[in-house]
Amino acid sequence: MLRKKIGFLGCGNMGKGILAGLLGKRIASPGDIRVYDVIPEKLVRIKRQFKVKTAANMGELVKHSDIVVLAIKPQDLSAASREIRPNLKATHLLVTILAGVSIKRIRKEFGSHVRVVRAMPNLGATIGEAVTAVTSSRKSDLKTGNHIFSGCGAVLNLPEKYFDAVTALSGSGPAYFFHLIELMEKEAVRLGLSESQARLLVKQTAKGAALLACHSEEPASILRQRVTSKGGTTEAALNTLAKGNFPGLFGRAISNAVKRAKELGRG
Ligand SMILES: NC(=O)c1ccc[n+]([C@@H]2O[C@H](COP(=O)([O-])OP(=O)(O)OC[C@H]3O[C@@H](n4cnc5c(N)ncnc54)[C@H](OP(=O)(O)O)[C@@H]3O)[C@@H](O)[C@H]2O)c1
Repeated sequence: MLRKKIGFLGCGNMGKGILAGLLGKRIASPGDIRVYDVIPEKLVRIKRQFKVKTAANMGELVKHSDIVVLAIKPQDLSAASREIRPNLKATHLLVTILAGVSIKRIRKEFGSHVRVVRAMPNLGATIGEAVTAVTSSRKSDLKTGNHIFSGCGAVLNLPEKYFDAVTALSGSGPAYFFHLIELMEKEAVRLGLSESQARLLVKQTAKGAALLACHSEEPASILRQRVTSKGGTTEAALNTLAKGNFPGLFGRAISNAVKRAKELGRG
């Protein structure tokens, strides 16, 4: 157990996922967690579901927390920092998951002395299957950050310079897989299957492929070759993708996501 008071500023998709992981893996107890969100109905729901405490405002949240998890949108950061800053002490640890927001920017907003863990989880956090990149300049804070995010999946420690790449790969990554599922389902319907048949065929295929890739010692390229017999159906499909330069297009998509992460980071 962490045995620290943890405050969640913002409890949307990600905040709730991290919170559920902390409780589910018994990293923290409900009595040590307090939540504040600008949407009151959300707070009522969270309190009822997780039996955690709530705060009436940001000041109260910070006063009663050792660790504050910033789980708001980047555009809400400056307004939140104006309210939080007067209550922040040197002992507080800020844990930020804000896409594109650097530790330097957090220190600019909250004070140069502030202790920070920067993390980039992904939507998998909502089912305990995230991968989270975590960084901090202090060893003990990094350990705390790793402990927190181990609740919602795998953890990878990386220097901050890689965070734009991580944002483009694993942060946005679930959407790339969802898009492929979406396209395959559309094709299934075009080929005459019902929507529910299409969903079952495609989602179960995606799940099986993801589990095989995760459990196999072999790289994805070998697994792909194994289902691609010469002159067969898979080869026909993959050749079409290669002819349309799918690998190049996908590379450009990732590069543009990295570029956008950098732009967002500049504010
Ligand atoms: N979603 C992802 O896949 C993902 C992945 C990695 C990192 N992130 C990062 O995680 C952060 C949260 O994303 P999310 O998807 O969880 O967003 P979200 O669902 O919109 O949750 C944020 C919540 O915080 C509330 N809020 C806004 N300002 C607040 C304030 N000052 N105090 C308390 N609550 C406040 C929001 O209310 P309103 O809706 O009224 O503004 C909303 O309920 C973002 O910074 C994002 O960059 C997200």
